[in-house]
Amino acid sequence: MTLMIEVLVKSVTNEAEGINAWELRRPDGGELPLFTAGAHLDLHLSNGMVRSYSLCNSQRELDRYVVAINRDPQSRGGSKFIHDTLKAGDKIKVSEPRNNFPLVEDARHVVFVAGGIGITPIYAMIQRLEELGRSWEIHYSARVRAMCAFRERLNALEHQKPGRVHINFDQEPGGKVTDLRALISKLPEDVHLYCCGPNAMLRAFEDSARELGRPRENVHVEYFVAAEEAAVEGGFTVVLQRSGKSFVIPPGKTILDTLLDHNVDARYSCMQGVCGNCEVKVLDGIPDHRDSVLMPAEKASNKTMMICCSGAKSAKLVLDM
Ligand SMILES: Cc1cc2nc3c(=O)[nH]c(=O)nc-3n(C[C@H](O)[C@H](O)[C@H](O)COP(=O)(O)OP(=O)(O)OC[C@H]3O[C@@H](n4cnc5c(N)ncnc54)[C@H](O)[C@@H]3O)c2cc1C
Ligand code: FES
Repeated sequence: MTLMIEVLVKSVTNEAEGINAWELRRPDGGELPLFTAGAHLDLHLSNGMVRSYSLCNSQRELDRYVVAINRDPQSRGGSKFIHDTLKAGDKIKVSEPRNNFPLVEDARHVVFVAGGIGITPIYAMIQRLEELGRSWEIHYSARVRAMCAFRERLNALEHQKPGRVHINFDQEPGGKVTDLRALISKLPEDVHLYCCGPNAMLRAFEDSARELGRPRENVHVEYFVAAEEAAVEGGFTVVLQRSGKSFVIPPGKTILDTLLDHNVDARYSCMQGVCGNCEVKVLDGIPDHRDSVLMPAEKASNKTMMICCSGAKSAKLVLDM
């Protein structure tokens, strides 16, 4: 079971056009569960929705979580609802932080590529590397200046030690999209590369890193929205080892859909393979991985799977549930 924490919205501040930051604290002002840079938590909204948001403050701050949320113009409810209703003084339930995007703290040099709201986990990582006195640089793209979150604080870091912060406004006059292949090709092989942003940017980043032969373990990405279609072909059996129940997954449904239809108490949040909340151990069988959370080596080992989006390549899957 995920631990749920009740927090108080201490303040809401505007970070950039369409982006506000929510500062969350325990109502008694006490310490919160620890987190590491790159972690996110789930906000359990009063409309029943659950949405994941990266923590963008320093992991050294033990008594607060800060999330910066973009009001998604295509929102079916989550970010729009938060922007419209969640205000200072409100209480809200959040999950414990989880980290699917951990920072390699002892890398010789870390290169960050951020696009739009994808800056949030990366800004926490930059603060961490600053605290540790480590070497980093960032290539951050926003459409226009007004939509660029944390710009002043990043500019202050650049002022302290020039050459580290490169901000690109690709939709301002004369602006263009960063050539990620050209950027990566100039970097030494042992740097660690991190990217978070829109899916098109993440795909270009992953493709360039792969084509340029970058060691896989040095390439780190976090998707905020699904990169692949969920497996809904069905036609296989799922056995839940601990409860002894088994279900045939019908066409049109994911494993998670089927379990929820049968009132099985399964953990989940995003339902699109990006948050890692629904991960379960695979005891037998071969999953058809469709998530954006597991690293390629983890997928190849078939030891765990995300049941909200992944299916089966074998006729039967035995899960540790
Ligand atoms: C680990 C993690 C960390 C994240 N961190 C942040 C963060 O720090 N800040 C932040 O702002 N967001 C973050 N997100 C994204 C966030 O969780 C939400 O996905 C985002 O706020 C959009 O939610 P929504 O409910 O407003 O939009 P949704 O209604 O969930 O829509 C999301 C997207 O789905 C598409 N869509 C909308 N309607 C439809 C439809 N009918 N059919 C198909 N597609 C549709 C659109 O492209 C839309 O942009 C993070 C996500 C993850 C997984
Ligand atoms: S519920 Fe988010 S990865 Fe499955």
